[in-house]
Amino acid sequence: MRDVAIIGTAVTSFGELWETSLRSLWAEAALAALTDAGVDSVDLITIGCMSSGLFTGQEHLASLLTDELGMAGVPAARVESACASGGLAVRVGFAEIAAGLAETVLVTGVEKMTDVDGAAATYALGTAADSETEGFHGVTFPGLYAMLARIHMQRYGTTREQLAQVAVKNHANGLLNRHAQYHLNVTVESVLASTLVADPLRLLDCSPVTDGAAAIVLTTVERARELAAGRPVVVIKGSGLATDSISLANRRELAELRAVRLAGERAYTMAGRSPDDIHVAEVHDCFTIAEIMATEALGFFEPGSGGPAVEKGLTSLEGRIPVNPSGGLKSKGHPVGATGVAQMVEITKQLRGEAGQRQIEGAKIGLAQNMGGSGGSSVVHIMEVV
Ligand code: COA
Repeated sequence: MRDVAIIGTAVTSFGELWETSLRSLWAEAALAALTDAGVDSVDLITIGCMSSGLFTGQEHLASLLTDELGMAGVPAARVESACASGGLAVRVGFAEIAAGLAETVLVTGVEKMTDVDGAAATYALGTAADSETEGFHGVTFPGLYAMLARIHMQRYGTTREQLAQVAVKNHANGLLNRHAQYHLNVTVESVLASTLVADPLRLLDCSPVTDGAAAIVLTTVERARELAAGRPVVVIKGSGLATDSISLANRRELAELRAVRLAGERAYTMAGRSPDDIHVAEVHDCFTIAEIMATEALGFFEPGSGGPAVEKGLTSLEGRIPVNPSGGLKSKGHPVGATGVAQMVEITKQLRGEAGQRQIEGAKIGLAQNMGGSGGSSVVHIMEVV
């Protein structure tokens, strides 16, 4: 298996982008990543996108978007794993280069979610839940994560305030990210006073509905060294992918995100690393409880210790293991197909020392964790500077 490096990165602004179409948004990120990498041709384009059909009425994205870039003829594939579609697009690009099938791959993620109203967006997102046991009964993602939060609170004593601390931390980080959707000063009090969405989760516990795109360029380590122009070379050392029952009713254990644990274990094994080696992480905080459960499943904290850890500041920019320096999905926004690629952009910036005011000093090993639905799938990547 060949080593794979990241040589170019880009994200668009995240938010409610009325003036931009799906294809323009995608092309903006794709062109910026190619420019950052210093390449003008690739062997493959991968596109993570959850539901362009329901959000914009457009499917068949691989051909459409490759043509938009003036590259019709180049192999391209759209991949889908709900909100983990972006992470899966990274995994496919990584595997093609590692296997020797491609030298250089443009990996992208995109979602244009705000062209439909809130009810239609909720319906589109809800198609990633189990339609027979969840969707048809009217449960939406805030409702599913509210159930996970309740179980975690009962099992481990996780408090409502600890959930709020995740939002406080991530919004503070997001103030340092010009691409973030929401630049808000958030306090525990303001989270607790925000509108109740699905008890115990409130508006400020939820990631928003977002338009956005992200892209990275992958190539061999040898080519990356030639193109690096003095910048640190960031290599993907581990890639883990896992699934779980989509339906909460079919899971053996509800206080753990099993797919995240399995994907993490697979990525650590491939990288020859352990949770203690990680200097910085981007995790899938689609709801505040998700960040707490992900940090436990990834082995940063014991089961039940994720809530106290955020309360003690262990996951803040100055903490033992900074989590979501970008602002996470909570503040930066969650254009579902783009999220997994945007997480890779943030970790690459951190490892290159290019993260500006939110730079984690001395970060050399980073992790990105992306998740589909309420944990029915997860992708974990571990990156290192070589
Ligand atoms: N965080 C902070 N503020 C938010 C927000 C969020 N997640 N979502 C909306 N807002 C703000 C809006 O900017 C708006 O502010 P304004 O009145 O000052 O303009 C206000 O709240 C109302 O916005 P609106 O778009 O009408 O909210 P909504 O009630 O339709 O939707 C949620 C709120 C939480 C239901 C929606 O964001 C949601 O469904 N989030 C979860 C998305 C999801 O499930 N993703 C997949 C995860 S697996």
